[in-house]
Amino acid sequence: MKYQSQKIAWWFFATCMLLFTLQLVYGFIMAFAHAGMDGLHAYIPFHVARATHTNLLVMWLLAGFMGAAYYIIPEECERELMWPWLAKLQLGALVATGVTAIIGFHFNWWEGRKFLEIPRPLDFLVVIDVLAFIANIGMTIWKGRRMTTTSMVLFFGLLMAALLYLPGMIPTDNQTVDSYWRWWVVHLWVEGVWELIMGGILAFLLIKLTGVDRELIEKWLYVIVGFTFLSGILGTGHHYYYIGTPRYWLWVGGLFSALEPVAFLGMAIYAIAMAKRGGRHHSNRTALAWSIGCSVMSFVGAGFLGFAHTLPQVNMYTHGTLVTAMHGHMAFWGAYAMLVMAIIAYSLPLLTGRDLQNSAAATFAFWTSNIGMIAMTLAFAVAGITQVVLERRMGLEFLAVQSEIEVHFWGLILAATLFTVGILAYLWVFIRSGLPVGPVDADDSAPATVA
Ligand code: HEM
Ligand code: HEM
Ligand SMILES: [Fe+2]
Repeated sequence: MKYQSQKIAWWFFATCMLLFTLQLVYGFIMAFAHAGMDGLHAYIPFHVARATHTNLLVMWLLAGFMGAAYYIIPEECERELMWPWLAKLQLGALVATGVTAIIGFHFNWWEGRKFLEIPRPLDFLVVIDVLAFIANIGMTIWKGRRMTTTSMVLFFGLLMAALLYLPGMIPTDNQTVDSYWRWWVVHLWVEGVWELIMGGILAFLLIKLTGVDRELIEKWLYVIVGFTFLSGILGTGHHYYYIGTPRYWLWVGGLFSALEPVAFLGMAIYAIAMAKRGGRHHSNRTALAWSIGCSVMSFVGAGFLGFAHTLPQVNMYTHGTLVTAMHGHMAFWGAYAMLVMAIIAYSLPLLTGRDLQNSAAATFAFWTSNIGMIAMTLAFAVAGITQVVLERRMGLEFLAVQSEIEVHFWGLILAATLFTVGILAYLWVFIRSGLPVGPVDADDSAPATVA
């Protein structure tokens, strides 16, 4: 860490840890409800738990991206952050808005649109908050001493993510039109502009952790960004198959979304190739594990498991079932949760001056959470495929099928427990690393040990 203002990132990361932990609590509430133990129903009905679980996820990932940007941008631009006070204010406002939304859900104050449940007045606060964030990093880049490809890709990813929040706010009382715009936010985020954020953060981590030349890493970044847009934009059509939109979406969506895994495969090959090429070894092996792990798990979760249900002939049966939840978990985990875990694992020793990344707890956290997530994905897959066969192929009634598949949720609870143990170990390392200190006079890109 070279700049005083990078310290702000720690507060965003601490927010991530808090919201992530709370997200898991709501995951368990739903898993038990699915297993037939819905004792909390009167206070936290399933839809409330679900909206809380997914909105907390989006909120902590956004806090993680912002923290990552506040850490990376000063270093890339070689100057202090433009307005450190604004970053603090903006974090406070983000948390206040998020907490209000979450409490609101529990009192039935919500919009009922999957992933965009936050009530409209709060949407405006989110927009203002994100604009303040964009202005802060934008001005830092503008006034900076250099403009790198990594910082530009990260910046445009964040800017476009902010702009793409707006279509979700277009008022309409038509279900199809509402669904149409909702996917501009949900799909074009995770299968479009968030991939730029992922590419930017991964490029930064690979430059620092592998010692490979910036020119080479950034050249491949362009190729991946190209693939992402080529497939991801028209790939939105895989959500337009049967919602009342024209029939040509069957072809367009099927074809282009089938190409989307290429971008994720490219990202995985890229990260592995750079790690192999880097002859030097950085001391923070755990951060490298999270970075490579992110690229590999996102290919499996988003690329492979996304492809599994993206063709219209398959999606006709799997749409909106637990097959979607299977894919959603591993995709979000691999691509975006692991990305935030990677940048935290990398920056934490530099922010706090205490390096616990080579401890047994840090290694344990990586493996246990990943094995737990793979097991969770399998549990959702078994439940999902059974649901599709019984409900969609054999025509059994929805609730009859739900009670038929209850047993698989005990498997999910077991897997989720393993996952949670891993996350608690990560949290332990985070807490033990302590509070941020002033700039540590260390060259982050220098290898601590030479192979
Ligand atoms: C990191 C990237 C990705 C993430 C985080 C992600 C996450 C999700 C989530 C949460 C949903 C449920 C959304 C909702 O119903 O509101 C979903 C749906 C879907 N995803 Fe992905 N996804 C990613 C990439 C992909 C890719 C690359 C493909 C195709 C190759 C794909 C194919 C699909 C399909 C077809 C659906 C609709 C499922 C249905 O009809 O119920 N996804 N995804
Ligand atoms: C303790 C661990 C967890 C448990 C027990 C859990 C459980 C669940 C359950 C039961 C659902 C509802 C499925 C349904 O609609 O019937 C759900 C939804 C969801 N969870 Fe989790 N979850 C956990 C952790 C996570 C993590 C770490 C992530 C992301 C990295 C995540 C992302 C999601 C997403 C995106 C959905 C919505 C899926 C969809 O649209 O179909 N969950 N979770
Ligand atoms: Fe999509």
